Formats: sequence, structure tokens, C-alpha cells
Amino acid sequence: MSNSNDDAAQAPETVAAQGLGWIDTATGAVTPGIQPSSTFLRDPDNQYRRGRAYARADNPTFDQPEAVLASLEKGAAAALFASGTAAATACFLALRPGDHVVAPKVMYWSLRNWLATYARDWGLGVDFVDMTDPAALIRTMKLGKTRLVWVETPSNPLWSITDIAAVANIVHAAGARLIVDSTVATPVLTQPLTLGADIVMHSATKYLNGHSDVVAGALIARVEDDYWERIKAVRVQGGGILGSFEAWLLMRGLRTLFPRVRTAVANAAKLADALERNPQVVEVLYPGLAGFAGHDIAARQMAGGFGAMLSIRVAGGEAAAIAAAAKVKIWKRATSLGGVESLIEHRRSVEGADSPCPPDLLRLSVGIESVDDLIADLEQALAIG
Ligand SMILES: Cc1ncc(COP(=O)(O)O)c(C=O)c1O
Repeated sequence: MSNSNDDAAQAPETVAAQGLGWIDTATGAVTPGIQPSSTFLRDPDNQYRRGRAYARADNPTFDQPEAVLASLEKGAAAALFASGTAAATACFLALRPGDHVVAPKVMYWSLRNWLATYARDWGLGVDFVDMTDPAALIRTMKLGKTRLVWVETPSNPLWSITDIAAVANIVHAAGARLIVDSTVATPVLTQPLTLGADIVMHSATKYLNGHSDVVAGALIARVEDDYWERIKAVRVQGGGILGSFEAWLLMRGLRTLFPRVRTAVANAAKLADALERNPQVVEVLYPGLAGFAGHDIAARQMAGGFGAMLSIRVAGGEAAAIAAAAKVKIWKRATSLGGVESLIEHRRSVEGADSPCPPDLLRLSVGIESVDDLIADLEQALAIG
């Protein structure tokens, strides 16, 4: 494979659509193929001059999507993982027992549960704070002990906004690192590394792949330091790697990242507007609404839109919310987010009683269908009777 484009001159839309312009030099194929081999030939003099020995350590099909993600996030390097969860947990497992970390109270629920259980059992000190409150973060930092602060913005499922630049200042003043789960913002709308984050994490299952047919994760580092090497060692030695076919599918999805995200974001903005006027909706949680707490920060930090995730709180409480979700015809009742098809979910049923998610909340992942169809379907589902 080779990189036929001059990377420095490319706009991110071009980087994504052309996969940095890589072609298969052997065949001229503009879409580099899948390399399924688990092992690579050793040279007669006992060296590995081509630089590859075994696919758990080094899979050539990762090269292009990793290079594209590093470019889109303006990082020095990227690494693919078997899932967003594998990427996220690698960041914590690369620390040492006794280290202290701070994470948001509102974040992807399954990772919050892992931090509160496994990570603590393993020996990390874990504190959860309201990450939208810088004073609370400052109070929670333990000088000399806090190694890592985790941010998710916009954060599941309330879409609260964290000021990445402000948090980065606090974190770096305490000698710690900042990692941002930017799954919902995508590199189309926010580049956390340019705002001071040290590493960006994505559940590539979501917008990066975009078609609800791959589970994958990615990390992108601002610098390739010792910590990054430890994270990569967790991937190689832990062994939970992405498959070649999934890496190739992810690259296929990345090519259309920009038009997909932009269409979904435009749909979400129109939908949020319509839902604000719906009498069956008590509250619309969407960072694009002027009245939303964190809207001003989002307007500064997110370029080109406020994401395509929103939640509504339904008049009549939990039973009414579940009943409305039962009546949709076009929206799909399913978990996950970031695919081309719109998904609706009663989130408390997923997260359980100890979640900060209110019981009357429906989470909406807005896709790229006709927004009129999406609005009409939700309005009929919400209508009483
Ligand atoms: C914001 C966010 N982060 C991380 C994850 C975990 O990713 P995965 O399901 O790919 O392990 C998810 C999954 O829903 C998510 O929504």
C-alpha cells in the first residue's frame, strides 16, 4: 500500500473520503484489501525486515484506518481495539494499582460500572464527579496520585457538555492526563487533542463505522509517550484485538463519515425543534437548544453542529415513555447509536435503578433518513390514545 496524497494539504473531508489516498500498489486498487494472515514470513537471515511477525501485535489492515483517525483527530498515532470498551479499559489498565482516577457521574453506563467494580477491585482509586463543575473536579484531584481524568462530552444519556480546554488546564496543573470519550461528538464536530486532551477515545461501533455492523474501538494519542506504549502493550498482551474484516469495514464506513454525521446533525436539530413544541414532551435534552445548560460551551467547542444524539422526557412518566417507544414504526427500538438508521431506547431499562438517567427518558439516536418521516413517526407515537 502507499499514500498517494500529500497529507498536509488535505481537508479532513478528503482524508476520510479517500482514506488518505492510499492505494494497493500491487494492483492499483483504490480500495486496499483485507489482509487476513495471522503470521508473516521471517527472512532467511532470521530478521523481520518487513516489520511484521504476528497479527496480534501488528495487523496491516489496521494501518489505513489508524492513519486516517490520527489525521482526523490531529494526533500522532492511533490504535484500533476490539470494541470501544476494550479501548477505554486499556487506558485504565495501563495505569498501576494505587493510582487515582476521576470520571464523570454522567457517562456511558457500562464503563462507569466497570470503573466502580473491576477497576476498584484491581486497585485503582476511582472518584466520580460532576464534570461540568470545574470546582468539583479541583476538589477531587489528588496531587501526586491522580494520574487520569476521564471526560465524555456530550455525555450519555443527558448530553451534558464538559469544557475540554478548562478541564485540561486543571488536569495538567495536577500533573495528570486527560482522556476524552468523543464518540458522540466525532472528529467532524470536535477535535479534543487540539483543546488539550492527551488521548481521544471512540466507540468506533458508532459514528466512525456508522452502519451498525461492526463493534470496534479506537484511541488516538497526542504524543507517543511511555503511557501510549503501555496502552499498546495492553492491546498486544491482553490480546483482545479487532479482526481484519472488521477493520476493513470500519475503513469503509469512515469514507462517508462527514456526509453521514452532517446529515444526522441537521436532522437532530430539526427534530429537537419539533419536539420542543410537542405537548407530550416535558423536556428535550439537546446541546443545540439555546436553553440547554452547556449550550454556550458546546457552541464554542463543537464546530458545525451539536451532535445527533438527544433525549426526551415524556409527560406521564416511565410507563408513557415505554408506551411511546412501543408505537414507533420507522424508528427502531434498539440500543446503540451513531448508525444511519434512527434508534429509540428507554434508557433506564438498560442502565438500571442506580443510574442518573430519569425513568421517563427516551434516548434518540438520529439517523440520516428523511427528517419529516422521523418527526411524523415520533409525533404519532407520542400522541395520546
Ligand atoms: C459514549 C460511549 N462510549 C463507549 C461505549 C462503549 O463502546 P463499545 O460498545 O464499542 O464497547 C459506548 C457504547 O455504547 C458509548 O456510547
